[in-house]
Amino acid sequence: LPHFVTIENLSNDDVSALIERAEYFKHGGTPETLTNPVYSVNMFFEDSTRTHTSFEMAERKLGLTVIPFDPAHSSVKKGETLYDTLLTMDAIGLDLAVIRHKENNYYNDLVETSDNQTLDIGIVNAGDGSGQHPSQCLLDMMTIHDHFGRIEGLKVAIIGDLTNSRVARSNMELLTQLGAEVYFSGPEYWYSDEFGKYGKYLPVDELVEKMDVMMLLRVQHERHDGDSNEGSFNPEEYHKKYGINEERYEKMKDDAIIMHPGPINRGVELASELVESDKSRFKVQMQNGVFMRMAMIEAVMRGRKLGGLE
Ligand code: CP
Repeated sequence: LPHFVTIENLSNDDVSALIERAEYFKHGGTPETLTNPVYSVNMFFEDSTRTHTSFEMAERKLGLTVIPFDPAHSSVKKGETLYDTLLTMDAIGLDLAVIRHKENNYYNDLVETSDNQTLDIGIVNAGDGSGQHPSQCLLDMMTIHDHFGRIEGLKVAIIGDLTNSRVARSNMELLTQLGAEVYFSGPEYWYSDEFGKYGKYLPVDELVEKMDVMMLLRVQHERHDGDSNEGSFNPEEYHKKYGINEERYEKMKDDAIIMHPGPINRGVELASELVESDKSRFKVQMQNGVFMRMAMIEAVMRGRKLGGLE
């Protein structure tokens, strides 16, 4: 892959190969030695804790040289476009840029340049607005596969702020492609008919006993400007109606798991005391993220023949 911006073009075999490679790294497998230096930059125009540090950890484990970039003190503040910022990165010798940006599909102009443009830098999407979150999606697939040994045939409920969640969008698409049965729940005003092609919307209490995976989404207040429901949002009420509390936890199947991409609103999507419970995969998801991101970056390095990789 010359870039990794979406999960949309991945085949089931591609996903399996990425999971296999990530598992190889997770179980102590070493990356190939690079025969020439590879320089990367992580450009996070939206806040992040785990994706940012996890990509940096992945890059360092692969032997890349990571060049710092701070958007708050960059020339973006003077109005420089994203394209020109990337042209700068390319010109000074960066090979790869990992980017998180609030605009959906921000990467289109970076990966499909026209004849009079010379931009040549690998783009890895670390999240675009409410569009896609490929690395979260793939680490989630790895985490499900880790636990069940398969994805096909599993029942997965995606619960919460569906409208605003790039994690939900990527996961409903890839889970369906991989043969899982997807369900939705949470406040009805965050469900849209466009999700209907992926699965049914049902109340949480109808799902909790039947699901293999309860995938909780963070309530994204920062994306609720203009959302008429934001003013009346009540965290306790949300938790009572849609969150996983002790009572719902006890009703889950013995082997079922809870997932959350993080950051968690403790006591809202998930009771605080359940964050590190037996069924919770919250910490495992973050651990797996490093190894999946290694696999993704390596795929781009191979696609661009960086560091001598073919
Ligand atoms: N899951 C996720 O994207 O977390 P961060 O926003 O902390 O990177």
